[in-house]
This record gives sequence, C-alpha cells and structure tokens, in this order.
Amino acid sequence: MKKILITGGAGFIGSHVVRLFVEKYPDYHIYNLDVLTYAGNLENLKDIESKSNYSFIKADITDADKMNALFNEYQFDGVIHLAAESHVDRSISDPLAFIKTNILGTVNLLNAARATWNEQMQDKLFYHISTDEVYGSLGETGLFTETTAYDPRSPYSSSKASSDHLVRAYHHTYGMPVVISNCSNNYGPNQFPEKLIPLSINNIKNKKPIPIYGKGENIRDWLYVLDHARAIDMIYHQGKNGETYNIGGINEWTNIDLIHKLCEVMDQKLGREKGESAKLITFVKDRAGHDMRYAIDATKLTQELNWEPSLQFEEGIEKTVDWYLANEEWLENIISGDYENYYKKQYNEL
Ligand code: NAD
Ligand code: TYD
Repeated sequence: MKKILITGGAGFIGSHVVRLFVEKYPDYHIYNLDVLTYAGNLENLKDIESKSNYSFIKADITDADKMNALFNEYQFDGVIHLAAESHVDRSISDPLAFIKTNILGTVNLLNAARATWNEQMQDKLFYHISTDEVYGSLGETGLFTETTAYDPRSPYSSSKASSDHLVRAYHHTYGMPVVISNCSNNYGPNQFPEKLIPLSINNIKNKKPIPIYGKGENIRDWLYVLDHARAIDMIYHQGKNGETYNIGGINEWTNIDLIHKLCEVMDQKLGREKGESAKLITFVKDRAGHDMRYAIDATKLTQELNWEPSLQFEEGIEKTVDWYLANEEWLENIISGDYENYYKKQYNEL
C-alpha cells in the first residue's frame, strides 16, 4: 500500500484533494497532516473520516523535529504539499506568519523527506502546490507560462515564490524528484469566507455591503476547485520529474463583473428581485500593492496530460452558491468565531 502524505488537507483545496485520493485510490493510504489554523476545518472531510485508507495527523510543518519523526515513523512514498498561509490581505498585516509556514515549513518537509528517502529517492515524489501569483501582475495582454520570470509582489506571493525556488533547489542539488504546479484563483465549496467569492456570498445572504477594492477593475482567472484537484491527481501520477505545470480556467473576470454575475445568481436563488443584491456593492480602499491581472497559459498541461476544465464558470458559480446556501451551519460555525474580529479589522470602514 502506498503511503501518501497530503499537507493542508483540512483546508479548502486540500480537502478536495484528500477526498479525491481517498475515494479513487483504495490501495493508497492517505495521511492528512494539518495543524488546523483558522483555515483548517475537519468538517470539510466528515464524509470520509472513517474510511480505512484515511488518517488525520495534527501537526505543524514549522516543527522540524516533528516532521522528521513523522517521516521516520510512516515512511511516506509521496508528498502533496498544500499547507500554507493563503490569504494576501493577511500577509499584508502579518508577513512573518507567511515566512514561517510557507518557507520554513516547506524546507522542514523537504529536509525530512530527504533524510528519510535517502538512497531510494528515485521512487518517491515531492509535489509542491503553488500559485500563479508568483509570476507577478500582467497588463492588459499576455499570459503566464511556465517560463515567465518570477516577480512576486505581496508577502504571500513572495513566500510562495521562495518555497518554489527551494523545492527546485532540492531537485537540482540533492536529486529529489519533484513537481510543482502553479494554479490560478480557485472557487467552490468549503472556501473560507475571507476570499472574494465566499465572502460576497455570505454578505449578500445577510444583506451586508459587498466590499470591492478600488474600482473593481482587477482581473483574476477562476477555476472550479474540483478541476484543480483533478489536475493535481494527473500531475502527481503523470507529471515529469523536475517539471512545472501551470493550471488555469481560461476564465478571466474583472472583480466587478464577477460580483454582478454572483449577485444575479444570488437574487435568483434567494427569490429576491433582480438587481437587489447588486445594491450591496460598496467600493472600498484598494488593497496595498494590488496585482492588476492574472491569466494562465495552461497549454502544457492540456497538451501533455490531456487536462481541461470540466465546468463553465456559470455552472460552477451556481454549484458554489447552492453549496453555501445548503450548508448554512458550516458557514455559521466559521463566522461566529474569530472571523468577526478579522472582519472588523480588515473592513473597519464598513
Ligand atoms: P487554505 O488557507 O484554505 O488551507 C490551508 C491549510 O493549511 C489549512 O487547513 C491550514 O490549517 C493548513 N496549515 C496552515 N499552516 C499550517 C502549518 N504550519 N502546519 C500544518 N498545516 C498548516 O488554503 P487553500 O486555498 O486551500 O490553498 C492550499 C494551497 O494551494 C496553498 O499552498 C495555496 O498557496 C495554494 N493555492 C491556492 C489557490 C486558491 O485560489 N485558494 C490558488 C493556487 C494555489
Ligand atoms: P482573493 O479572493 O483575496 O484572491 P487573490 O487576492 O489571491 O486573487 O481576491 C480576489 C480579488 O478580489 C482580488 O483582486 C482582490 C479582490 N477583493 C475585493 O475586491 N474585495 C474583497 O473583500 C476581497 C477579499 C478581495
């Protein structure tokens, strides 16, 4: 039985990856390692927690001794590394947390893997999950390819870029088998309501202002989270050693257009009059250093591994809204805790 370590499996994307692997590969044992920060939530995995090929390990990747001990104990065959601090706004108010988890945490995992795998490295794989934000910000034209020079501009993207470089360094220096993928913005069930789409769904539901940074002209490429999880499965199994793969939805939206679309869907689902939710749109102070546009060229992934997004955005956003409306308790549990303090601090003018 192959032993696969998935870090950050209690988070948004990680929980979808864990579920996909546990259900699709009964001959793998999946170890979900997560320290359960504010973003980690075992409710995301309730439906699979009793499966015999799944175990949860509560641990902090910044704890080097613990990582070494766990790798020694379990002798993992492969790692899919998603654990990270993931929100740009939090990285602006607390950069050090991002340096610790995203950089130091990644090095701790690389060191533990290297020490344990030692002579048998060639049969193993360290798969590092990264973001398109490492490439910086685009103007009106152009796409990020796998060879675009890194130009990270927020503490979050800089810490992810740094971890990508370290993963490549371990490949070149120590011969560690690695793959890296850089994906655009994900959306879908279980996303923490600090990110644009779930935050707006929650606010529309509660008839609260929808905060749009600046003029809402910034552009992001959006991918349904399950399509990202499918790409991760393909890259883990068929990606070439030492390679990087860009993953994207071919689905660019300005923030303001996206929110108008979301408002339309919410009006329909909540039985509100057309245009009612859009009245909640409120322009607020722009994010510091706000990247203008991200867009991905995913040709390598589509040509080499035959991957493509399965959902159109209109379908994906409906599924997402349906999930949030059907899972009120999940949302209520989150917004009743520390979230209130975060919200007040981040959006004090609202
Ligand atoms: P998330 O914030 O929802 O989840 C992160 C998870 O990591 C949480 O469960 C948290 O408890 C865990 N974690 C944080 N610090 C840890 C530590 N020190 N030790 C152990 N566990 C820790 O993040 P997400 O949106 O699911 O993103 C997952 C990965 O994908 C990240 O590496 C992120 O950079 C990358 N990514 C995200 C997106 C996106 O749109 N969300 C896009 C591209 C890439
Ligand atoms: P976010 O979901 O935080 O993802 P990222 O910053 O990683 O792209 O933000 C998506 C876009 O939405 C980004 O341009 C910032 C913007 N945004 C708002 O306008 N208002 C908000 O309250 C948030 C959280 C984001």
